[in-house]
Amino acid sequence: MKNKYYLFIIPLCAVFLFNGKKYDESVIERIHLQVNVCLEGQECGQVAQTSLSKVSRSVDQIYVSGCAACHDAGVAGAPVTGIASQWTNRLPKGMDMLVNNAYNGYNAMPAKGLCADCSKDEIASVVKYMLDKSI
Ligand code: HEC
Repeated sequence: MKNKYYLFIIPLCAVFLFNGKKYDESVIERIHLQVNVCLEGQECGQVAQTSLSKVSRSVDQIYVSGCAACHDAGVAGAPVTGIASQWTNRLPKGMDMLVNNAYNGYNAMPAKGLCADCSKDEIASVVKYMLDKSI
């Protein structure tokens, strides 16, 4: 009869022990902040830069979120990035015209693609990026 209490106490202890360990880990996780110290006159590290997302977004990021949906697969007749023959016939238009069409819209190509807040410079960089990958 006395022995049966252990059947409850042992699992109970195990639960407390286990939870205690998990709790410690979660506290350590929460206080483990990434801190970046920048001295005056020096360039700041990545952490500080990523908070200024608009300034620091890369051409690659814009392409992936704003253009790839159509230009990776050729949706609605979009020229596919990486397939030269789909771009070479557009080259005679000249870079300015291609950038203008991407920025202002052209047939099924929506203005600025899916990057509504892209500047013209950013669109120009992405068009160049797409051409570099294709031709
Ligand atoms: C909703 C789909 C879609 C998205 C998103 C999209 N495009 Fe397009 N794009 C098209 C289609 C369709 C065409 C072909 C239009 C035509 O020739 O009639 C095209 C054509 C182009 C052309 C060639 C224009 C020309 O004058 O021949 C460029 C450059 C271009 N897109 C750049 C971009 C860039 C840069 C982005 C991202 C910022 C983007 N596109 C996002 C569908 C899209």
